[in-house]
Amino acid sequence: MPTVRPWVLDTPHSGIRRMLEHAREVDSPVMLANGDPNFVTPAHIIDAAAAAAHAGGTGYSPGDGLVALREAVADKLGHVNGIDVGYERVCITTGACGGLYTTLMVLLDPGDELLIPDPGWSNYAAMVHVLNATPVAYPLRPEAGWSLDADAIEASITPRTRGILLNSPSNPTGSVESAQTLRRVLQIAARHDLWVISDEAYDQLTFDGPGTSIASLGGDDRVISIFAFSKTYAMTGWRVGYVTGPSAFTRQVSLHQEPVVSCASTVSQHAALAALAGPQDCVTEMVDAYRRRRDLAARLLADGDVPFVLPHGAFFLMVDIRATGLDSWTCALALLREHGVGTVPGLAFGSAGEGFLRITLAAADEQIAAGLGRLVPAYAQLTSAAAHA
Ligand SMILES: Cc1ncc(COP(=O)(O)O)c(C=O)c1O
Repeated sequence: MPTVRPWVLDTPHSGIRRMLEHAREVDSPVMLANGDPNFVTPAHIIDAAAAAAHAGGTGYSPGDGLVALREAVADKLGHVNGIDVGYERVCITTGACGGLYTTLMVLLDPGDELLIPDPGWSNYAAMVHVLNATPVAYPLRPEAGWSLDADAIEASITPRTRGILLNSPSNPTGSVESAQTLRRVLQIAARHDLWVISDEAYDQLTFDGPGTSIASLGGDDRVISIFAFSKTYAMTGWRVGYVTGPSAFTRQVSLHQEPVVSCASTVSQHAALAALAGPQDCVTEMVDAYRRRRDLAARLLADGDVPFVLPHGAFFLMVDIRATGLDSWTCALALLREHGVGTVPGLAFGSAGEGFLRITLAAADEQIAAGLGRLVPAYAQLTSAAAHA
């Protein structure tokens, strides 16, 4: 076979998927590793997509998406996120993934640096690597509730830095940034003339009051915001998201997703339109469930003296396993193979995630209770072994 670009052979792949592969070797583990909601897409959304398909909505859409959907998105951005844009500044993408990758493809030259959160969603580093650019991690600290440290971000800037990527609410930490912190990031970006790429895939999944969209605070000429239907409406498999930013930039996203996907799936866009136009109680119900599970997990861990960092959004929680003396892969594999509970090692999200395990809240309450019913005593065993070593 002729060769592939050598570069792609070194692309870092998702530790989450690696963990799921290990789980296949174990008999009936209780999995707390997934990032896919355990809910199915609400029926009215599925019905609307089916009806649109039967009515002939099965061809390509314009490259930047159906106008009706872009208008509905612009309206949502205004009333949910405080981002005031017309529909012409909205491009519909193949999930937040497609929006992020096309954004980076448009912005990054080979050798450019992009600041990404550590711990952060593992796909960021992979996307930047594939473009022959360099991901530079800015560290987040558990002692600060994993909140951004604007000084650490500024300290990581070099002449090659092109942008700062933010993710609030965060996967894997569940942290939600304050308006004050985001304002500081905007100041830093303006001072160094950088792009701000804000991944807000979990924008509506917050537990203790709404989050802030950085674009609502200003930076009209440099902030790019990326959103998803995946998490808010349990629509991960439909692959629809959207990007908004300066109009000349949004146009480039539309032009550059064209050679890769032409457009986001038209049937899925009809589903997304129904999601925005229909009743929103499904979102409230899912957020209530994630909050209830966050509280359940927090109670079970606290009762078992297992340290953790309380998340305020998204649907993950980071368990602190530093007292076991084990690195996160060894600990996660021991929990899986010897105690039958699947988690994701913090190292899968960057070196600042070492010493932690990510557990999901996107699983049924009973599954979370059963998984923690295994994890808590296993943690006690591992820490007592560490104390006597
Ligand atoms: C932080 C973050 N951004 C983006 C995505 C991708 O979302 P989508 O399914 O819309 O591509 C995910 C999915 O897990 C995520 O966790």
